Amino acid sequence: MSDIRFNGRVAIVTGAGAGIGREYSFELAKRGAKVVVNDLGGARDGAGASSAAADGVVEEIRKAGGEAVANYDNVATMQGGEGIVKTAVDTYGKLDILINNAGILRDKSFVKMTEAEWDAVIAVHLKGAFCVTQPAVRVMKDNNYGRVIFTASTSGLYGNFGQTNYGAAKLGLLGIMNTLKQEVGKYNILVNSIAPTAWSRMTEDIMPEAIGKKMKSKFNAPLVLYLCSEDNKESGRTYVMGAGWYGRTAIVCAEGICLGDTERDISVEEIRDNFVKIDSLDNNEVLNSGLEVFKFMGPLLS
Ligand code: NAI
Repeated sequence: MSDIRFNGRVAIVTGAGAGIGREYSFELAKRGAKVVVNDLGGARDGAGASSAAADGVVEEIRKAGGEAVANYDNVATMQGGEGIVKTAVDTYGKLDILINNAGILRDKSFVKMTEAEWDAVIAVHLKGAFCVTQPAVRVMKDNNYGRVIFTASTSGLYGNFGQTNYGAAKLGLLGIMNTLKQEVGKYNILVNSIAPTAWSRMTEDIMPEAIGKKMKSKFNAPLVLYLCSEDNKESGRTYVMGAGWYGRTAIVCAEGICLGDTERDISVEEIRDNFVKIDSLDNNEVLNSGLEVFKFMGPLLS
């Protein structure tokens, strides 16, 4: 089998000035991609801005013989998203790969969370994914090729104390992916999500140090690069990873139970009496579209 290469491919990595995004950029460039290293250069909570983060990574890539250009736009605005994509097109003539990775944290328990903390996190993760991905997909569509990654989180998939804002934004990305995969598949654009784990400034006070230090950022890059490669044929999938473990996760729908006959009323007591079956995850399936849920209602609809 040949090596996976990205020669001739142009990639954008958002939030690539540090942590996990830096690893993606470096590895993509090492394997021949031309990389737009985007980073606003703010603090962990999103405050401030500096060109130093993106410039540092670009310098490192160039020193290692790779090709990269810095961009300092904010992913959370439409103007910023368009600016990031324009940097790719103006500098390298096209765009093949987008890794939505930029992120901030404003943790607070739900009852104490302010509107500003809610809005800031939703803006960077959820709206940011829209602002960058829409102009990116427009370019990819014209080239009939694209690979898009959304960065979700186990906090959104399964929950994490103090992160209702972050969890909502992260799970929202799966909502974007589930529909976007249907809209862009015919243009050979594949859209996948990942929930990474890494010891970074984002997690250094969340994970215990002994475990955290095994969660090296670099272990997230191999699967993400594979998903961004021509070899990958999957779209609409979500993968979780950390420390060298990689696995798939999915939202499933269980077989459940059909009650009534589509005419007669269904009582609350009937729900109570059948709740074990309603609550069971037995015979579940991963659905490829919202309409597929109708198949479970089959006996009622035929
Ligand atoms: P990090 O804080 O080291 O890197 C995030 C980068 O995004 C920073 O360099 C920051 O300047 C940049 N950024 C923030 N807001 C931006 C904006 N509006 N526009 C452009 N750039 C912006 O964090 P880390 O750990 O590398 O996280 C990367 C991604 O992975 C984030 O989306 C994070 O939520 C996600 N993630 C990380 C996990 C972990 O264990 N570290 C767990 C689950 C998800």
